[in-house]
Amino acid sequence: MNKQQKLAILGFGALILSGCNTDMWRQPKQEPLDESEFFADHAANRPLVPGTIPRGHLREDDAFFAGAANGKWLDGFPDGVKVDKALLLRGQERFNIYCSPCHGRLGDGQGMIAHRGFSLKRPVGNIHTDRLRKMPVGHFYDVITNGYGAMFSYAARVEPQDRWGIVAYIRALQLSQYAAPQDVPAEEVSKALPAGDLGAAKQETAQADSNTRLAQK
Ligand code: HEC
Repeated sequence: MNKQQKLAILGFGALILSGCNTDMWRQPKQEPLDESEFFADHAANRPLVPGTIPRGHLREDDAFFAGAANGKWLDGFPDGVKVDKALLLRGQERFNIYCSPCHGRLGDGQGMIAHRGFSLKRPVGNIHTDRLRKMPVGHFYDVITNGYGAMFSYAARVEPQDRWGIVAYIRALQLSQYAAPQDVPAEEVSKALPAGDLGAAKQETAQADSNTRLAQK
């Protein structure tokens, strides 16, 4: 390399480096929770202007956003919520993340936090009680949205669509702990068992059936 070439490379390098400056990421702007000298309350976070609603946040559909219609909790899932496997799987995932630490993976109120002495004057709720088995789905949606007694609201952490997913999964959990043999379609029973076991299974089912009836007496 001769002297001229070296100089050319050096010059080119200098040219490129001169383009490097930090203006782009050191812009004068306020981050959330920054202190601000501009506003009287020194908070960079600004509250909504009264009487305004951000675009896309007009929540007119009470059934979907409040779990209620005509002042009553919804007893079925609102239009637009399709209860299918995808919703249940999503609900399961969200439930295990947000609810199971207190409520346990079964929803029986035996989560790790409850076990490690968590106490808010009242024990963590158990979804497997007669009262909650009969509760309309809108109530569960409402508990997630607004909290319940000692339990905080999860509205900031769980989006409405996912709340419905959790509600659907709560119903599945309830069924998992309290289903009568006749809730299982006969063809499903035979699918789940090898052919030879079918007779025994039928007998067991009949036995369980009469046990359930006895327990209900
Ligand atoms: C930090 C612990 C905690 C977490 C996490 C939690 N809960 Fe609760 N939950 C409670 C407590 C405590 C109660 C009982 C409140 C009371 O009776 O005052 C309760 C009660 C309930 C009840 C019973 C309401 C009734 O009518 O009796 C339901 C349903 C419920 N929670 C659902 C949920 C769901 C769904 C989630 C997840 C999105 C969740 N909880 C997350 C602590 C928690």
